[in-house]
Amino acid sequence: MNILVFGKDGQLGKAFQKLFGSMHFSEANIQYVGRDQCDLSNPAALSHFLSQSKADLIINTAAYTAVDKAETEAELAFAINAKAPELMAHYAVEQGATFLHYSTDYVFDGSKNSFYVEDDSRNPLGIYGKSKAAGEEAIEKVFANSANGQYAILRTSWVYGDGNNFIRTILRLAKDREELKVINDQYGVPTSAGWLAQVSLNLVLDQQLNLRKFTSGIYHSVPTGETTWHGLARFTAQAAIDAGVILKVGPEVIQPILAVEYPLPAPRPMNSRMDTAKLHLTLEHIGDMSKLQHCKQDWSDEVRAYVAELAQDGLI
Ligand SMILES: NC(=O)c1ccc[n+]([C@@H]2O[C@H](COP(=O)([O-])OP(=O)(O)OC[C@H]3O[C@@H](n4cnc5c(N)ncnc54)[C@H](OP(=O)(O)O)[C@@H]3O)[C@@H](O)[C@H]2O)c1
Repeated sequence: MNILVFGKDGQLGKAFQKLFGSMHFSEANIQYVGRDQCDLSNPAALSHFLSQSKADLIINTAAYTAVDKAETEAELAFAINAKAPELMAHYAVEQGATFLHYSTDYVFDGSKNSFYVEDDSRNPLGIYGKSKAAGEEAIEKVFANSANGQYAILRTSWVYGDGNNFIRTILRLAKDREELKVINDQYGVPTSAGWLAQVSLNLVLDQQLNLRKFTSGIYHSVPTGETTWHGLARFTAQAAIDAGVILKVGPEVIQPILAVEYPLPAPRPMNSRMDTAKLHLTLEHIGDMSKLQHCKQDWSDEVRAYVAELAQDGLI
């Protein structure tokens, strides 16, 4: 099996490199692709790159993820987040390949009072969300007209891994600042990039690491539980202290504020919580209970382990 992983230098791309590295895969069959190898904002370059590849599985972790900057770079965001996945979908359909793609809670407006399900209407608030929603729609359209190939769009939220993310920002600020105020009225689920990479492979590979047939579509892919940014900040600070890190701002003094008190160029959904029953049911049907158990992990366990690892590596 030949595997192409786009976005090799991003949080999720690095998580896939680590995960595949720990598995019995021939390195020769996995190609990690970064901006230098293929600029996804250039459709001609991407089409050429794909035409040269013999991929059975395309994993697209690459994306334009600068949420605020996207408000002034719409064309670029749409090229990377909508046009590029559309071209990858065409390749998968033409070659009968499997296409794994990632999307975001930002395709929703956040006005729902409960957990979003996969079929809820998309209504993105900002350019980033609009471009990711356009990517989802483009993939659905390409596959709707063909019985060839298969795809999964894993919608996720609040991702952290090897890269810049909210958790690392909070730890840096809690060490340097005298006080910290964090938004407490936006709800979501923190998602570890390592967790997400593992869940992705659980969905598409069987026990022998061959591609399996699954039902194409969108899968909400986040751990169990929910919190706010403020809840995550406090939990993170406590986890760091438990791991022996000395902070200037402890969890009990991190102050809650409202989103309106911290205006940003791009609006964010107030509710990012996504129902994961479809993913759980799919893994249950596969029948491997350890995979299901991993998928049902609470976000707090993953964050605690992540912070402990950062502390151990001297990265806090
Ligand atoms: N981060 C989150 O909180 C979050 C939340 C929900 C959903 N998601 C989705 O989850 C997926 C993975 O996110 P992530 O956190 O791993 O993102 P990330 O760390 O920002 O990585 C994105 C990668 O895409 C690459 N990229 C951007 N523009 C490119 C271009 N023109 N050509 C080639 N590569 C390009 C970047 O390359 P460079 O390294 O060269 O810049 C970067 O390595 C994405 O689909 C994202 O939309 C993320």
